[in-house]
Amino acid sequence: MKLIKTILIVFVIISNTPLTAQETGFSDLLQNIDSREKIELNGMWDIIVDPLENGYYNHRLQVKDDGYFKNAKMESPSDLIEYNFDTSLQLMVPGDWNTQMDKLYYYEGTVWYKKDFNYTIDSNELAFLYFEAVNYESIVYLNGERIGSHVGGYTPFQFDVTDKLKEGTNFVVVKVDNKRKKENVPTVNQDWWNYGGITRSVHLVKTPISHIADYSIQLPKGNTKTIEGWVSVKNGKDGDAVNVSIPELKKNVDAVVKNGLAKFSIKAKPVLWEPKNPKTYEVILKTATDKITDHIGFRTIETKGSKILLNGKDIFLKGISIHEEAPFKTGRVVSKEECKILLQWAKELGCNFIRLAHYPHSEAMVREAEKMGFIIWSEIPVYWTIQFENKDTYANAKNQLTEMISRDKNRASVVLWSMANETPEGEARLSFIENLAKQARELDNTRLITAALDTQGYGDDGNLIEDPLGKVVDVIGINNYCGWYAGSTESCSKLKWASAYNKPMIMSEVGGGALYGLHGEKNERWTEEYQAEVYRTNIEMMRNIDFLAGLSPWILMDFRSSRRPLRRIQDDFNRKGLISEQGMKKQAFFILRDYYLNENN
Ligand code: GCU
Repeated sequence: MKLIKTILIVFVIISNTPLTAQETGFSDLLQNIDSREKIELNGMWDIIVDPLENGYYNHRLQVKDDGYFKNAKMESPSDLIEYNFDTSLQLMVPGDWNTQMDKLYYYEGTVWYKKDFNYTIDSNELAFLYFEAVNYESIVYLNGERIGSHVGGYTPFQFDVTDKLKEGTNFVVVKVDNKRKKENVPTVNQDWWNYGGITRSVHLVKTPISHIADYSIQLPKGNTKTIEGWVSVKNGKDGDAVNVSIPELKKNVDAVVKNGLAKFSIKAKPVLWEPKNPKTYEVILKTATDKITDHIGFRTIETKGSKILLNGKDIFLKGISIHEEAPFKTGRVVSKEECKILLQWAKELGCNFIRLAHYPHSEAMVREAEKMGFIIWSEIPVYWTIQFENKDTYANAKNQLTEMISRDKNRASVVLWSMANETPEGEARLSFIENLAKQARELDNTRLITAALDTQGYGDDGNLIEDPLGKVVDVIGINNYCGWYAGSTESCSKLKWASAYNKPMIMSEVGGGALYGLHGEKNERWTEEYQAEVYRTNIEMMRNIDFLAGLSPWILMDFRSSRRPLRRIQDDFNRKGLISEQGMKKQAFFILRDYYLNENN
C-alpha cells in the first residue's frame, strides 16, 4: 500500500511540474501577429541587384564593414559612393522578383532591399521586425547595423529591435540571396520555380514589455472533453495571472505563470471542428499588460489500422495538392484573395483535404483553409536528394520544421506534418527523417506524422509498400504516376497494391499533364483527353486499395518550374494542373469532381 501511495505522489508532481518556455521547444516566435499592434512595412522597397555580392564582400572576399547595408549618402561632392538606394529600382513587397521584372525572370543571387519607416519611441513597448517569409537566405540590418540572419524560404522569423530603433526615420536593409546550394533545404534540384525575394509580408510588431509571446491551445490526443494548453509570457514574473476565456463556451480560467509559462486545462464540450462544420471559437488571452484574441477550432485526429479518425470517426480525405503559385498573375501567392481563389476551386472540386506542397504556405492560406473546412497536410522542403549526412542540413531542416509547427500549432485544420517528399532510401536518410519525426512529436503530439514516398516496388502482382520509413510515420504518403511516368493508362486500373504496414495510405501524388485546350485521342500526350484517361484509370485503381485513406492528386493548378522547357506545351509550366494558371478547367477536373461528389461521402 505504502509503495502505491509513493508512486502516485511522484506522478502528480511530475505532471504538474510547469514547463518552462524553453521546454516547449519553441523559440517564442510571436504567435498570431494578426492580433497584435504593428506597423506594416509592405509596399515598394528600393532594391539593388548584386550578382557579385559586391555590396557585401570586398575584392578579397572579406565581408565589408561599409557594405550596401550602410545605405551611405554623399556628404560632400567629392565623396565616392557607388550605390544609391534612393535612385535605384524598386520591387513590391510581398512578392517574388522573378515575375515583377523581366530581367530578373531567371535571376538567382543577391538582391538588396531597403525600406524607410517612421517610429515613435515608447519606453513601455518592445518592437520586433517580423518577416513572414524570405526566399532563401536573408541578412537583416537596421539603421546600418546587422540585426540577424535567417535560412529557409517559407517560414517566419523575427528580431527584437527595440533598442536599435531611433525616434523618427529608420531604415531596414535586407540582403536576400536565393542561390541554390547542395547543402540547402531544398537542395539544387526542385520541380518548382525558385522565386526569390521578400515573398511574404513584413511587419514591425509592437508588444508591451511584459507580453504574451506564444501559446498552444488544443484538445489532447483522443480526448474531446478537455481543452489543454500553455501560454508563454515574456518579461512576466512567477505568480502573474493569465486569463484564458472562451466566451461562447462560458469558460474563463486564470492560469499562473511559472518560469515564463502558464499551463491550464479546461473541462469543456466544444462543437468539434470538421470539414462540414469548420467551427472555431473566439479565445481571449489576457495578462495585466497584454491581450491576444484568436479563433481556434477543436478536433482530435488519430489513426486506427488503415483508417484516419477525425473526432473518433473514420474520414476519407478527398484532396488535391497545391503549390503557392498565384492564379492568373502567376508568381508567389501574396494575398488572401489569391488564397481564396485556389481554395474555392478546391471546394468546387468537392475536396475536404489539401496537401500544401512542398513547403509551408502562408499563414493566411492555412487560416482561410481552416475557415472553409479543409483538412491540411503541411510539409517542409526536405525534397528529393538533399544532403542527409550533412549536420548543418539537418539543423536547417529541423529549424524549418520547428518554425512551421510553431506558427500553425493552433490550427485545427492542420492534421498532418509531412517530413519529406520523394527521398531516396538509405541509412542516412532514414535517421535524418526519424530524427525530424521525433522532433515533431516532441513539439506536438496531437497531430499525425507523414512523408510522401516514391519507393514502392513495382512487381508483376502489383506495387508493394515496404520502405523502412513506413515504420516512422503514422500515415504513408505515396506518389505514383501510373499512366504518365510509368505504365500505360490502361494498365493502371488493374494495378494491385499491398503494404508491409497496417497504416493508412494517402495517394499524395497521382496524375498527368495536359495543355488546356489541346484536344485529341486519349492516347495522345498533353491532350486533355489523355489526362482525363489517366484520372479515370487511376481512380479505378484506387477504388481497389482497401488501406487507402485519401488522395491529393498532383495538382490543382499548372505551376511554374524551370524543369519544364517544352515550348508551346509547357513554356516553363508543369502542366499537371486540373486548371490552367489562367483558371481554365481541364476535362480531368470534372472526372475527379464526380468521383468526390459521388463516392466516399
Ligand atoms: C514529383 C514531385 C513533384 C513534381 C511531380 C511531377 O512527384 O513530388 O514535385 O512536380 O512529381 O513530376 O510533376
